[in-house]
Amino acid sequence: MSRARVAVLISGRGSNMTALVEAARAPDCPFEIALVLSNRPDAEGLALAAQAGVPTLAIDHRPFGADREAHERALDAALREAGAGYVALAGYMRVLTPFLVEAWAGRMINIHPSLLPKYPGLDTHRRAIEAGDAEAGCTAHLVTAGVDEGPILQQARVPVLEGDTPETLSSRVLEAEHRLYPAALARLVGDADAREGYRGPVDQSSP
Ligand code: GRF
Repeated sequence: MSRARVAVLISGRGSNMTALVEAARAPDCPFEIALVLSNRPDAEGLALAAQAGVPTLAIDHRPFGADREAHERALDAALREAGAGYVALAGYMRVLTPFLVEAWAGRMINIHPSLLPKYPGLDTHRRAIEAGDAEAGCTAHLVTAGVDEGPILQQARVPVLEGDTPETLSSRVLEAEHRLYPAALARLVGDADAREGYRGPVDQSSP
């Protein structure tokens, strides 16, 4: 079986990246992790990926200053050099320019810690608690120009419990992310229709 080559973009601790790396160990997993790439040379996730035997690279955004597209052109060259066919954002904390989004349209996926379209952006768990939501969750979606706005591929739901803090809710959602993201990526790489865009959310409620 030829497996889809996926590059993972991170900025921090990399727990979703680790979930993808672990999923890719299964012989029947339809993807392999070709590269873990960070805009922060000190990202914890880079060390974790290296320990797991995955090729890693840091391309620091700071020397590029305000020229975000120039940074992305360097990323794009590295992604192609690694032979990546897909890009998975996993806690990549830069807003993308149209250049990178268009270069990987239909082949770039993100995991977001809310039930989109609710709570795009940051601080999702506090916002869900303050709104009195009974349910929270996470969303795997294709990346488009609008932040956290791309077609939804799959979602997973978790309850918001009495007394939850942003931290306790975040760790419950994160466990769901670690199950959802490999499943959504596996489906994307095997499914031309999904790459074309929205076919309706598939609710993968977590047990
Ligand atoms: C996750 O909550 C993910 O949904 C969001 O950023 C966080 C990254 O965490 N996009 P990690 O680096 O994968 O641990």
